[in-house]
Amino acid sequence: MTSAKDDKTEGAVKRRPRPFERSGKLELIRTKGPADYALLDSGGGRKLERFGPIVVDRPEPQALWSRQLGGAAWGKAHAVFSASADDEEKGKWRLDKPVPDGWPVRVGEVVLTCKLQGLWHLGLFPEQSPHWDWMIEQIGAVSGERPRVLNLFAYTGAASLLAARAGAEVTHVDASKKAIQWAKENQTASGLGSAPIRWILDDAAKFVAREVRRGKTYHVILIDPPKFGRGPEGEVWDLFQGLPVLLKNAAQLLAPGRAAMILTVYAIRASALAFEQLSADVLADRGGHLSFGELALSAEGGGAAVPTSLFVRWTS
Ligand SMILES: C[S@@+](CC[C@H](N)C(=O)[O-])C[C@H]1O[C@@H](n2cnc3c(N)ncnc32)[C@H](O)[C@@H]1O
Repeated sequence: MTSAKDDKTEGAVKRRPRPFERSGKLELIRTKGPADYALLDSGGGRKLERFGPIVVDRPEPQALWSRQLGGAAWGKAHAVFSASADDEEKGKWRLDKPVPDGWPVRVGEVVLTCKLQGLWHLGLFPEQSPHWDWMIEQIGAVSGERPRVLNLFAYTGAASLLAARAGAEVTHVDASKKAIQWAKENQTASGLGSAPIRWILDDAAKFVAREVRRGKTYHVILIDPPKFGRGPEGEVWDLFQGLPVLLKNAAQLLAPGRAAMILTVYAIRASALAFEQLSADVLADRGGHLSFGELALSAEGGGAAVPTSLFVRWTS
């Protein structure tokens, strides 16, 4: 038990810890993704998907099951990705039908440009769509001031643009000049040219530490780190090394009243529970509600769902 006296440390009033509501259960969020996207089938280590009008066939190591659709459906793909021997995310697209350099895919009220490059990613992670909806709800719950959103490892900016569309001031942080340029193209395609988005080319961990020193706060923080990455000055990002400090600092950036955070972890073999416990640790003085689980993409026609990532959600 903490007494009011225990809450004071050398004159400074410490925030009184509130009890956590922890669901304690793995939550499975299934989504079909945005309306302009469909997972058509999966199996045999691959998935067949439609991004707007373009159908792609790409690797999915977790699709261990049998396919529902036959060769005729899979043969309709515009493009087929084959991974390089040393990196499953890098490789080549074989074009079986013409594909534009970039094409628009609608995500709620914004537009993302998809592109086929030397990577299996197309510029849009459709399984994130329930997180974006939840983020928009959290933005709507902020009162008394304009909501501030911090998007870390923000890539092509889907969450940044949806947050801006929902009325937030957005700080978008990514270490890749190319990704920021792509996100800006998406801003223009979404008609959000004058939206208040700060584009920050920086190492996420460094930026967050700097914001803590500046005493900044945000109502919603999104963290979607890769397993390994590099900051613009070659800073090494290693999830297992860097996440505890990054999360601890991010927790200090959460606004004192209504606030929310989403952590998504993909491409590693790990437990969602581990990340929930880490989040509980860094947010111990805030209490609030924590849930955690997995994100999965549901297939059209009732086929197997494809699990894509682990997540933790916190709200005050
Ligand atoms: C796969 S993306 C995240 C997906 C994104 N949240 C979405 O839903 O579209 C990972 C991003 O992290 C960025 N990144 C990698 N290392 C970084 C670092 N040290 N600091 C900031 N961003 C980094 C990459 O440039 C890439 O854009």
